[in-house]
Amino acid sequence: PLNHKPLFIRHAKQLVTLARSSERPLKGQAMNNLNIIEDGSVWIENGVIQKVGKDEEIVQHYQDRLAEADIVDARGKLVTPGLVDPHTHLVYAGSRENEFEMRLKGATYMEIMNAGGGIHATTRATQQADHEQLLQESKRRLDQFLFHGVTTVEAKSGYGLTLEHEIKQLEVAQTLNEQHEVDLVSTFMGAHAVPVKDKENPDRFVDEVITEMIPEVARRGLAEFNDVFCERGVFTPEQSRRILEAGLEYGLKPKIHADEIEPYAGAELAAAVGAVSADHLLKASDQGIQAMAEKEVVAVLLPGTAFFLMAEMAQGRKMVDAGVPVALSTDCNPGSSPTVSLPLIMNLGCLKMGMTPAEVLTAVTINAAHAICRGHEIGSIEVGKKADLVIFDVPNYMSLSYLYGVNHAQTVIKNGRVVIE
Ligand code: NIG
Ligand code: FE
Repeated sequence: PLNHKPLFIRHAKQLVTLARSSERPLKGQAMNNLNIIEDGSVWIENGVIQKVGKDEEIVQHYQDRLAEADIVDARGKLVTPGLVDPHTHLVYAGSRENEFEMRLKGATYMEIMNAGGGIHATTRATQQADHEQLLQESKRRLDQFLFHGVTTVEAKSGYGLTLEHEIKQLEVAQTLNEQHEVDLVSTFMGAHAVPVKDKENPDRFVDEVITEMIPEVARRGLAEFNDVFCERGVFTPEQSRRILEAGLEYGLKPKIHADEIEPYAGAELAAAVGAVSADHLLKASDQGIQAMAEKEVVAVLLPGTAFFLMAEMAQGRKMVDAGVPVALSTDCNPGSSPTVSLPLIMNLGCLKMGMTPAEVLTAVTINAAHAICRGHEIGSIEVGKKADLVIFDVPNYMSLSYLYGVNHAQTVIKNGRVVIE
C-alpha cells in the first residue's frame, strides 16, 4: 500500500545520493564519486522521490505543505539508497553446516559436490519441500536482508533441477515478491548442476534445460534472467553458451557464474554473449577482464564466497582500475556463502579486494542495480526514482565499512513507507 502522506527525511549528516548515474553503471574513478549532500533532506510522495537537496532548499520549496508530511529526523546519520543484492540463491530448503565442518577438516567444495553433496544435497531438500515450507524458510532470510538495509534482491532457481521443481522455486520467489516489502528479481538457473542421474550424459540435461525448461519458464513469465554455472566438472563454456543463447531467444537476459574455482574463459564468454553480468571471477584472466570492460559487462564480485571457501579473492581493485563496472553481492546460499549481510560483504571488499569505502558503496547500490537492469528505477537517490532508502546509525559512509560485523541499518524506507524503524 502506498503512503498517501508525504514523507520528509530531514537533516542527514551525509545524504549519499549517487546522483547523475542512472544511464550506465559507474566505472573507474567515477565509482568514488558518491555525490554527497550534507544536511541533506528528501521529500517523498506516492512511493517516489520528489525532491533531494539541502534541508533549507526542500523546506523552502514545500513551505506550505510541511504540516501534512510525516517527518523522519536523520540528524547525525548516514542516508543511502536502499541496498541492492544482485546475486542470491535465496529460495532453498535445509542447510549444510555438516559440509562446513567437512571443509574445515580439509574436504574441498567440489569434492563434496562430486560425492553427491553440495548443490545436490540442497536440491534433494528443496525438491522435498512444498511451496509453503520453501516460502517460510526463504522469507526468514528475506526479512534479515531487509533488516540489513537491502530493499531489492535478485533470486535464482537452480535447486530444483527438474522442470516441476524449478518452477516451484520460481513461484516461491514470485509469491515473496508479491507479499514481502523487499522487491525480488528472478533468475532461472536450471543449469546450476548436472543432476546425479545425468552424470554420464550431461548433454541430455543441457538439452532438457534448452528445449523444455527455458521455454516453459519464459512462457510463464517466471524469470527475467538466465544463469549457468560455467565451471570445469559442471557446465563447459560450450554448453554454457548454448544455454545462454537459448535463453536469449526467449527473452531471458544472460548472466553467468564464471571462473569461480578454475580459470575457464567464463569472463570471455560473458563478453561474447553480451551478458548483463559475470559473477564470481576469482580466476578470471586478464583478457577476460579486458573483454568485460570493453563490453561493459558488470562484474558481480562475491567476497563472502571466497572468504567462506577459504579461497583467494577476485581481483576487485584490478577490475575497477581496468574500467570494469563492479558490483558486490552476498551470493547468499547454503553452501558457499550463507550470509545475508551485504554490509559485511562491503567490509570484505575493502579489506580483501582493495576497494575503497566509496567504491564498495557504489557497488551495492547503483552498480548492483545495473547488474539486474534496474539502474533506471533504484540504486540512487534521485527525483523520479523509487523511494527506497536506508538510514544508518553512523555519521559517514566510511564508517559503514569500517565498523564491521554490526548491523547499522536503523530505519528502512521501501516504496516511500517506513518498514523498519
Ligand atoms: O554461487 N557456484 C555455484 N553456485 C553457488 C553455490 C551453491 C551451493 O553451494 O549451494 C555459488 O557459489
Ligand atoms: Fe551464486
